Amino acid sequence: MANLKFLGISGSLRRQSCNSGLLRSARAQLPPEVTMEFADLSDIPFYNQDIAGRPAPVARVLAQIGAADALVLACAEYNYSMAPALKNILDWASREPDNALLAGKPAALMGAGGGMGTSRAQYHLRQVCVFLDLHPLNRPEVFANAFAGAFDADGNLVDEKIAGLVAAQMKALAAWTRQLRAG
Ligand SMILES: Cc1cc2nc3c(=O)[nH]c(=O)nc-3n(C[C@H](O)[C@H](O)[C@H](O)COP(=O)(O)O)c2cc1C
Repeated sequence: MANLKFLGISGSLRRQSCNSGLLRSARAQLPPEVTMEFADLSDIPFYNQDIAGRPAPVARVLAQIGAADALVLACAEYNYSMAPALKNILDWASREPDNALLAGKPAALMGAGGGMGTSRAQYHLRQVCVFLDLHPLNRPEVFANAFAGAFDADGNLVDEKIAGLVAAQMKALAAWTRQLRAG
């Protein structure tokens, strides 16, 4: 089996982010022959068509996206939709000629937020995936409550049931990625 590279992208920039904690849990539980790195969005400027070319931080993350076999999108929910940092990097990535960075790429969505577990934001993100031609995994979905003791003060996931769901999603994403490759 070929090795697979996943790229984790957290929509939350804060240090103690629970969404980033979900990604750390995912990386700690990857199936064999899968590796994962994280994108740092903290220095990514807002997309602006007046900016010529790609600023260095943008180029760095776009190179990570290009090198990834699949994306793991941790979708923080702000005001019933995805946090702007996540949408912003997808907007930058979408400007590549022929949508070459994103078209056909598998993705898994997860999120930690209020009582609905970012489900509203994740379903917005699924809509965005349609136009970007990303291929989001359908199941299992990961909707985590960030306010019910599932995360410690540093944003680490401590809830075994959610961790099990994250592990199952990573396993399913590896299978989905291989299935899409096989055509
Ligand atoms: C501007 C803002 C808007 C928010 N709106 C929502 C919301 O609509 N739904 C929700 O579940 N949580 C909402 N929250 C709470 C976040 O989900 C919560 O702060 C979560 O911990 C953010 O993710 P993080 O821990 O990865 O930073 C909002 C938080 C902020 C700062």
